[in-house]
Amino acid sequence: MSATDTQPDAMTGDASSADPLARFRLDGRVAMIAGGGGAIGSAIGAAFAGVGARVVVVDRTPERAAESADRACALGGICKGVVADLTQEADAERIVNETLDAYGRLDVIVNAVGGGAGKVLFDAENYPRDAWDWIFELNVRSTLVATQAAARAMIAGGRGGRVLNISSVRASLGINAGYSAYVAAKGAVSSLTRQWATEWAKHGITVNAISPTFVDTPQVAMLLGDPAFKAGIVNRIPIGRVGTTDDLTGAAIFLCSDAASFITGQILGIDGGLTATQ
Ligand SMILES: NC(=O)c1ccc[n+]([C@@H]2O[C@H](COP(=O)([O-])OP(=O)(O)OC[C@H]3O[C@@H](n4cnc5c(N)ncnc54)[C@H](OP(=O)(O)O)[C@@H]3O)[C@@H](O)[C@H]2O)c1
Repeated sequence: MSATDTQPDAMTGDASSADPLARFRLDGRVAMIAGGGGAIGSAIGAAFAGVGARVVVVDRTPERAAESADRACALGGICKGVVADLTQEADAERIVNETLDAYGRLDVIVNAVGGGAGKVLFDAENYPRDAWDWIFELNVRSTLVATQAAARAMIAGGRGGRVLNISSVRASLGINAGYSAYVAAKGAVSSLTRQWATEWAKHGITVNAISPTFVDTPQVAMLLGDPAFKAGIVNRIPIGRVGTTDDLTGAAIFLCSDAASFITGQILGIDGGLTATQ
């Protein structure tokens, strides 16, 4: 699709359309899914394509970026997969420029790079620096670098935009399982969500986060494969199960749509009621 195809207006809360559900769609929007080759990013990219977005899937693994873009295209969207290391400023700048060249605009960035907690479980008093730095690079640096490049393009474009971060219930809940670096990193992601919301409101850019509990994905398969660990988690969740990627996509669409124009700086728990019990 060229830049001259469907060009929706700036991202506003205009409710004048005859179809009240139109505000919940992403028709013609250009959405970059950072980490879009992963389990959650891939599901969000496909969901966005299904409601009309043009989706740019960014991942550091070429096969995964391509597969995920194909999955999104199959749902009717216009999509492309691009390869980048989103901890690197030059890569982030390059893919934003490629997106602008291809589609003429950038409306949405979803930050779905992250995780890693289960691979580096250490007691708090001895948490090693290399593991700490790796978790921060993966969860915070990637979010920072990708969002800075995207935000500069959104500000220059003058149409506003949407930033959606993926935090975690671990930003606000401790867990007795060696999670020091991850809880701190997700705390930083939630704090940046509020800070960016405050700074970029004047540009019409909203910034929100979703905050899931455990989602049944390969990242956490090993942890959830331990029946005692899983039971300990599930028993604390009122709805009585862990999440699925499908549990996240509706909220992601909403928060990136025109319908959410007056919502910014919010961290939406998607946790089966877990945080309601704390
Ligand atoms: N799964 C859960 O239970 C859960 C719960 C709460 C929050 N979250 C959060 O949700 C987000 C997505 O999780 P997920 O389970 O979908 O993880 P995932 O499947 O590992 O997806 C992340 C994707 O990002 C890629 N990536 C990593 N570093 C990158 C970089 N520097 N540049 C570009 N791409 C990079 C990964 O590639 P590689 O495989 O090569 O690393 C992977 O394809 C994370 O922030 C995670 O903390 C997950």
